[in-house]
Amino acid sequence: MMGMLNMYGPTITATEGEESRIYRKIATPSFNDRTHGSAWIESLGLTSALLKRWDSMKAPITQLNEDVARLTLQVISYVCFDRQMEWAEATGRQDNPPKGHSMSYREAISSMVDNIPTLFMVPPPVLSKKKGCKDRSSLMEHSDISPIDAHKKAKASYAEWQKYMEEMRDETSESLRRNGSRNDASILESFVQAGQTSTTDSKDAKISPAAVLGNIFVFIMAGYETSANTLTYAIALLACRPDLQKAMQADLDRILGDCPSSDWSYEADFPKILAGYVGAVMNETLRLYSVLPFFPKTTRETPKPFTFDGRDYTVPADTLILMNTSATHRNPKYWPAVVPIAGDGPPYPVSSFDLSRWLNKDKGISAFSPTPGSYVPFSDGPRACIGKRFAQAQFCAVMATIFKDYSVELAVDDSQAAEKGVSKSLWEKAKRNAEQELSTGVGFLMSLKMKGKIPLRLVKRGEEQSVV
Ligand code: HEM
Repeated sequence: MMGMLNMYGPTITATEGEESRIYRKIATPSFNDRTHGSAWIESLGLTSALLKRWDSMKAPITQLNEDVARLTLQVISYVCFDRQMEWAEATGRQDNPPKGHSMSYREAISSMVDNIPTLFMVPPPVLSKKKGCKDRSSLMEHSDISPIDAHKKAKASYAEWQKYMEEMRDETSESLRRNGSRNDASILESFVQAGQTSTTDSKDAKISPAAVLGNIFVFIMAGYETSANTLTYAIALLACRPDLQKAMQADLDRILGDCPSSDWSYEADFPKILAGYVGAVMNETLRLYSVLPFFPKTTRETPKPFTFDGRDYTVPADTLILMNTSATHRNPKYWPAVVPIAGDGPPYPVSSFDLSRWLNKDKGISAFSPTPGSYVPFSDGPRACIGKRFAQAQFCAVMATIFKDYSVELAVDDSQAAEKGVSKSLWEKAKRNAEQELSTGVGFLMSLKMKGKIPLRLVKRGEEQSVV
C-alpha cells in the first residue's frame, strides 16, 4: 500500500526493516532545536506576510487551504531543503514557472501529490512513447502516448517535480564538493551526502541515487501537506467557535504580553504556547482530523501475540492491519462527547471540538495525558512521525501570529446583515454550512484534506461582528 510513495525511489516511509532504519538514521540528527527554531522563525515571518495580504483583501478568504499550504511548503523547503521559494509564490500574487520549467515549484509538488494515484495505477508504457519504458524514472524524457488529459497532467507533474529535485540535489552536491560537509547539515545535505561515493565504486555510497530523490520527495510531502491540513481545520473550527477563539487569544495575551512577534522566542515562548490553549487546539484538531485516518501495518514474518480484555490472541504472520485512527480518536470510552450528538447524521466536528479535555480548569495549561494507544495522531513507537516537534513549532508560530492581533470569523452575507451586526439566524446558517463542509466536505487523498470552501474573514481584534 505504501509503495505508492516510492514514486522516485525507496523512501523512509514505504520501506521496512534495515532499509528504513538507515534512512531514519540519516535524517534524525537534522531534527534538532536549531531546525525547529528555524521553522518557528520562518513561520512567524511568513504568517505576518500572509496576514498583510488577507488584511488587504476586500473579498472573503476562500483559499484557506491553498494559502496555508504555500506557507508550510515554503517553511519546509527553506528550513530542511535550503530552497528559497520565489517570494511571490509565498504571498500568492503570482506563480510563474522559472526558466527551464513549465510549472512553478509549488504547482509541481502539489500537482504531483494530487496525481499519485494516477501515476501509481497507470502503467508507465501507457503514459510514455518510448519503447521499453517500464518504470516511472524514464517518464521524464519521452513524449506522451496517452491522449487522456489526466494522464498527460500526471506525467508532466511527475517530470517537473523530478527536475526540481534533481536541481536541488545537484546544487547541494556541488556545494558539498566545494565546501565540505557541515556539523549541522540540513536533511537535504544529509541525504545527498549519504548518496555520494568517496571512491569510484558506487557500492561505497550508503544509499542509492534513487533513494536520495525518493526521500527528498517524501520529506517535503510529509512535511507540508499534513501541517497545512491541520492548520486549515484548526482555523476553520475556531471561526465556528468564537468563544474558544477568545479564550485562546486571552491565553496568548497572558504568554506574549505586548511583545512584537519579531521578539517571540522559540526557547522561551514556544513551550508555553504549546502547553496552553494553542497546544490544546492542535491536540483537539488532530483528534478530530487525524490526517492519516488509518495506518497500514503488518506482522511481517512473525506471528504477534497480544492480550485484550484479559484474553490472549495471536495475529498470524503476514497479516495486514489497518489501524483506524479516526475511530480510535472518537472512541466514547476515552473521548466522551461533551455535547450529545443528535440523529444519524455525519459526525459533527464543531460540537465535538472541546478544548477543556486538554486543559487544567484553573490554570489553563496542558493537564491531560490520554490513555496510551487512545491518541496517536503522530503514530507511536520506532516508526512514529519524525517531524512532530517541527509540526508543533510551526503550528504554534502560525496560530499565535494570526490570533494575537486578529480574529477569524465566518463571512456571512453582508448584504443581509443588520446595521448593528449580524442576525443570529444568519450566523447560525453560516455555521451550519461550515460544519457541513468540515464534515462531508472532507476527503482522503494522501492525507485527510478539506475539499470544500468555507468563506472566512480576517478582522482586527476588537472589531469582530456582533451577533444580534
Ligand atoms: C501535523 C503534522 C503532522 C502529522 C499529523 C504527521 C503524522 C504522521 C504519522 C501519523 C506518521 C506515521 C505514519 C505511519 O505509521 O504509517 C508520520 C510519519 C512521518 N512523518 Fe509526519 N506528521 C506531521 C508532520 C510532519 C513533518 C512536519 C515532517 C517533516 C518535516 C514529517 C515527516 C514524517 C516522516 C518522514 C515520517 C515517516 C517516518 C518513518 O516511517 O520512520 N511529518 N507522520
